[in-house]
Amino acid sequence: MLLQIPDVLDARQLAEARRLLADAPWSDGRDSAGSQAAQVKRNQQLPHDCAAARHVRDAVIGAVEREPLFLSAALPRRLFTPRINRYGGDTPSYGEHVDNAIRFRADDGERVRTDISCTVFLSEPDAYEGGELLIQDTFGPRTIKLPAGHAVLYPGTSVHQVTPVTRGWRIACFFWIESMIRSDEQRRLLYELDLAITRLRNRHGDDAETVALTGTYHNLLRMWADT
Ligand code: NI
Repeated sequence: MLLQIPDVLDARQLAEARRLLADAPWSDGRDSAGSQAAQVKRNQQLPHDCAAARHVRDAVIGAVEREPLFLSAALPRRLFTPRINRYGGDTPSYGEHVDNAIRFRADDGERVRTDISCTVFLSEPDAYEGGELLIQDTFGPRTIKLPAGHAVLYPGTSVHQVTPVTRGWRIACFFWIESMIRSDEQRRLLYELDLAITRLRNRHGDDAETVALTGTYHNLLRMWADT
């Protein structure tokens, strides 16, 4: 499932992020890629321990953990420490690749299974040319380029790339999510059921049927979830 989440970061948070990122210590992005991915990865990223990276990732984690759409769609169990990366100049693209299934979190060495990928766009689309996130979805290729502050969630299983940036810089925050629900199909069913129940409840208030459907949702979650 591919899902866009608008306004994860607000204008004030974006302005602060851009101020900090303007003179941050960018380094070669290849040191964090698997061997297949490293051959096609041409970008820059921030060291985990720099002040700008710390500030932006705290803002992003704080925001997604309060975002109902994110929680419902991802059903997160753990998050990989978000990275901040940029594309442009001599480091303009990330060719077609798949992400390693298991990553080790920098801060505590904890294993994270990469069920879902999340990109939060930090540059406005008119600040750069190219730089689309191109995802091979089950329905064919999908091109994603979102306004600053918006996020996209996509399955970690998909082949994807960032197309070459030919003008300006594309800055984004990126992380993986290990979900309580390993299967993309099951996660999608739960998300759609949750969405339908919420809409029913908003339209009609609670009744015996919404209570029963909510019970079914939680019983499916109980059946499928690893906590
Ligand atoms: Ni990737």
